[in-house]
Amino acid sequence: MANKKTQDSSKNPTLRPSQALRFRIDSSGSLRAMVSASSGEFSLTPEIIQLLCLLQQGIKPDELAAKLRTNFKQLNQALPDQNEIIGLIDDLIDAQCILAPNSDAEGSGIQDGFGDSWIQWAMLADAPRCRSYKNALQKTLNEQSNVLDVGAGSGLLSLYALEAKAHRVDAIEETAIAHSLKKLRSQLPEELRKRLTIHNCNSFDATLPQNITHVVSELFGNDPLQEGVVPTLRNIFSRIENKKCVGIPENVSIYLQLIDLVEGPLHKRLARFSNKDVENGDLWFKSVEKIKGTLDLSSISFSHPLRVEDIKQMSPLRKTITIQLAPPPSEKAQRPHQDLDVTASAKMSAPALLLGFRAKLSHDLSISNLPGESDSCEHWSPILVTLNRCIEAGETLQIKLSVNELWDRVILKITDNNGKRLGSRE
Ligand SMILES: C[S@@+](CC[C@H](N)C(=O)[O-])C[C@H]1O[C@@H](n2cnc3c(N)ncnc32)[C@H](O)[C@@H]1O
Repeated sequence: MANKKTQDSSKNPTLRPSQALRFRIDSSGSLRAMVSASSGEFSLTPEIIQLLCLLQQGIKPDELAAKLRTNFKQLNQALPDQNEIIGLIDDLIDAQCILAPNSDAEGSGIQDGFGDSWIQWAMLADAPRCRSYKNALQKTLNEQSNVLDVGAGSGLLSLYALEAKAHRVDAIEETAIAHSLKKLRSQLPEELRKRLTIHNCNSFDATLPQNITHVVSELFGNDPLQEGVVPTLRNIFSRIENKKCVGIPENVSIYLQLIDLVEGPLHKRLARFSNKDVENGDLWFKSVEKIKGTLDLSSISFSHPLRVEDIKQMSPLRKTITIQLAPPPSEKAQRPHQDLDVTASAKMSAPALLLGFRAKLSHDLSISNLPGESDSCEHWSPILVTLNRCIEAGETLQIKLSVNELWDRVILKITDNNGKRLGSRE
């Protein structure tokens, strides 16, 4: 948690917990929380949870110490006093768990993750990504458009929207990169500047303007769901009255393909992972095999940049589930899932299942992280799910594909004809 002290919050009567706070209980029974992909996850102690609950109930900060003492009579010794509570609240404000009034405009922003300029540059330097968004916004927006840019980053989509003559653009960005966005705004000619408003906060906490006609966003990771695109846009669309509001992107589809690594840095590692006999008789490998048996390698997946020449495609690229994003399915909707078979066209000795995505921006414009495809973008990589043994020519594998409960991860399990697990992503 951040440690810089920004203000004396004890006098502030209108502090409130962020609407973006999400909680989960981890495998050891501890309560964990996060406000965004950039903030990461942190542990919550019982007194912090109490503090958040009391603030949610409207208890004033200078009454918190006394309230805690009443609620935790048995633990009186270990409870923070009023001074410590002020420090805790300032930390919680820095971590954006608690919001001060006017934080829409004044938030300092999370420094980590997307607060980093180099990460923003990776996205700006990605020509296919930027070009596709530029074209999609040019084709869709006009002088009547009121645009909400959710997760504006350094301001690229907002700038494209202004260039496409949008009447008004509201840019929401939670991290410290909003400082660059503010600088960009200040450098715009007066006529464009007055049409752009910046909200430096999490979208769950932003006060939305009236009459939004278009929601634009790019909230995809290598796993397209990992940055919370579904819960974020679900929350935004649920608060927009105009039911004809247009979303860019419209949807995202998940793709699967069996591939064999034939070259590149991963080739040997995967071949050794999947093939017991690869170094048969070699002493160094016998010991490695022994240790391998003690490691938990049952669920390995990672994103990896792939050159087309380093892989052999061993099954057709298969489009699976499609998730609508404008608006996304409600929290009550059934999570998408699909069972499918894939058959290897030849023997595979460094086998993996490639998991990728394609997002439809609008009409015929799309972006993807699929190697060799015409809409493939440069800064994303597909995810590889490693298979723990060689696959024979003509062998058919069963795949169960789904998304997790928070809708922020694609999960899958791959088994052979005998029901034996070959790989998974959990
Ligand atoms: C993948 S980047 C895209 C940035 C920019 N739109 C672009 O296309 O270059 C996503 C941005 O959204 C921000 N973000 C993600 N979820 C957010 C949320 N719920 N509220 C506000 N900002 C969010 C991140 O901090 C990050 O800067």
